[in-house]
Amino acid sequence: MSSLHPLTTDDLAAVTAIEADVARSPWNLSMFTTELEQGSFGRVLTVAEGGIAGYLLLRPLLDEWHLMTIGVARHQQRRGWGRLLLQTGIDHARRQQGRTLLLEVRPSNLPARRLYDALGFRLLHRRRHYYTTPTAEDALVMALSLVQP
Ligand SMILES: CC(C)(COP(=O)(O)OP(=O)(O)OC[C@H]1O[C@@H](n2cnc3c(N)ncnc32)[C@H](O)[C@@H]1OP(=O)(O)O)[C@@H](O)C(=O)NCCC(=O)NCCS
Repeated sequence: MSSLHPLTTDDLAAVTAIEADVARSPWNLSMFTTELEQGSFGRVLTVAEGGIAGYLLLRPLLDEWHLMTIGVARHQQRRGWGRLLLQTGIDHARRQQGRTLLLEVRPSNLPARRLYDALGFRLLHRRRHYYTTPTAEDALVMALSLVQP
């Protein structure tokens, strides 16, 4: 059994603990809090046997949406939760008349890149020196069109 609910400040202790464990450049509590205050779209996935398994944050800018962060607890990975969370965000942005969903990803982050490829994201361009910690790395900017061709 799994369920999705809106991300709230009550979830942030658990969410930031997962983020600190799995993300290369983790978001901290104040970054999540600011994002929620600004009305971004957040979802949390809960599983019966283990509490919060994953989360997602999307920020709208008019009809352009941005994937701010997505994470799945280490011991819950490869069970389809990342795909479910991202598909939920895509569906939401589409319902809100979004035209594009954009994201940045490290070239070395193969699990995330495979997930994005699987859901239809396409490479737009490479942004030089986007990441500075823990190691300097470019970002791949990827986009998914939310409108029917
Ligand atoms: C990226 C992440 C969210 C994926 O979550 P997940 O729940 O493990 O992903 P899913 O089980 O839904 O996998 C969906 C697809 O993604 C790809 N994928 C996910 N993890 C993968 C891995 N370790 N190796 C290869 N492909 C992988 C596969 O195509 C997979 O489909 P399949 O299982 O049918 O082969 C998770 O690895 C994570 O939290 N990573 C750390 C945080 C992060 O990097 N966030 C993205 C920042 S841009």
